Amino acid sequence: MLNWDDPLAKTSLGATPDAVIANTSVDDVDRLQPSVAGGVQGLEGLAMGAGRIRVDDKKIINCRADVNQLVPFKYEWAWQKYLDGCANHWMPQEVNMTADIALWKDPQGLTDDERLVIKRNLGFFSTADSLVANNLVLAVYRHITNPECRQYLLRQAFEEALHTHAYQYVIQSLGLDEGEVFNMYREVPVVARKAEWALPFTQHLADPDFRTGTPENDQKLLRELVAFYVIFEGIFFYVGFVQILSMGRRNKMTGTAEQFQYILRDESMHMNFGMDVINQIRLENPHLWTAELQRDLIGMIREAVELETAYAQDTMPRGVLGLNAGMFADYLQFIANRRCGQIGLPEQYPGAANPFPWMSEVLDLKKEKNFFETRVTEYQTGGALNWE
Ligand SMILES: [Fe+2]
Ligand SMILES: [Fe+2]
Repeated sequence: MLNWDDPLAKTSLGATPDAVIANTSVDDVDRLQPSVAGGVQGLEGLAMGAGRIRVDDKKIINCRADVNQLVPFKYEWAWQKYLDGCANHWMPQEVNMTADIALWKDPQGLTDDERLVIKRNLGFFSTADSLVANNLVLAVYRHITNPECRQYLLRQAFEEALHTHAYQYVIQSLGLDEGEVFNMYREVPVVARKAEWALPFTQHLADPDFRTGTPENDQKLLRELVAFYVIFEGIFFYVGFVQILSMGRRNKMTGTAEQFQYILRDESMHMNFGMDVINQIRLENPHLWTAELQRDLIGMIREAVELETAYAQDTMPRGVLGLNAGMFADYLQFIANRRCGQIGLPEQYPGAANPFPWMSEVLDLKKEKNFFETRVTEYQTGGALNWE
């Protein structure tokens, strides 16, 4: 009979665990899985008798060590973001939409310009979050070969589902034409352009034959991560966030604004996670960060600032809510500078100032954690089963 307390208990292959640790390495995985280029995916056959995972075996991309074993942690920042994401859990139906419904149905409640802002943003976001989710599960996930990062990606994927749910909930509450709003990215050019811009990046990675492991393909992965985490979630969402949160600050559409505030908090963490991943890949693979790649990434960011500025103009042909398109041009340059700095690229718009300093407060996660404290506590206690 096996003694479960005995650290030298034999494994099914007859070797002691310590001996296995000493005698095997990730090279064994190569021997057992010769068909896998780049990194492992997690669905390979079991490498019976392979050694226990060591922190040094773990790599963020092109890793050959088993990705089905969460620990030992190598990237504490990824695990911490997973925990923080869970602590921030929320559901769209918990937000009271009564005042929004009354305001939207009152013919005098909102101006045409204000209604345009709301409908355009619901049109953009309702499909954008599905695109981000599909990119995560069908493209990014396969190529990130680290279990603690994948744990966060799974949490992020669920949050993207919640965001799409939130937009659907607002659209349904206000009694909007669902077909009109959800199909906007195939009918309204300025909404379509942002999705069209991002699609080629994810299409490369979602190709079943695509494998990381060559400098060229690893750079494709970096371009894709910048396209989605830094640009799509970090630039293309921000005109909409400022517009809808401005409405809430003026006591209009407060339920919708609250939904967007929760979403902004999640999105800011998604973006920061993506930047950590990009920076970790750079750290482990400095040869990828060539002058040419940096030039490409800067070009992508500058193009995105132009697209998002056009989106601001289209959604706000006249000034509305004390905002105008010119302020957004400044704001987008300001946040683009910050995004560049965070991934080690030179700032592109010297002297760009932030016309919406209140956005930094909304983004201050520490403050927001206090703000949402009640709700967080509810989840932490409400989730516990009572067996009595
Ligand atoms: Fe989202
Ligand atoms: Fe996101």
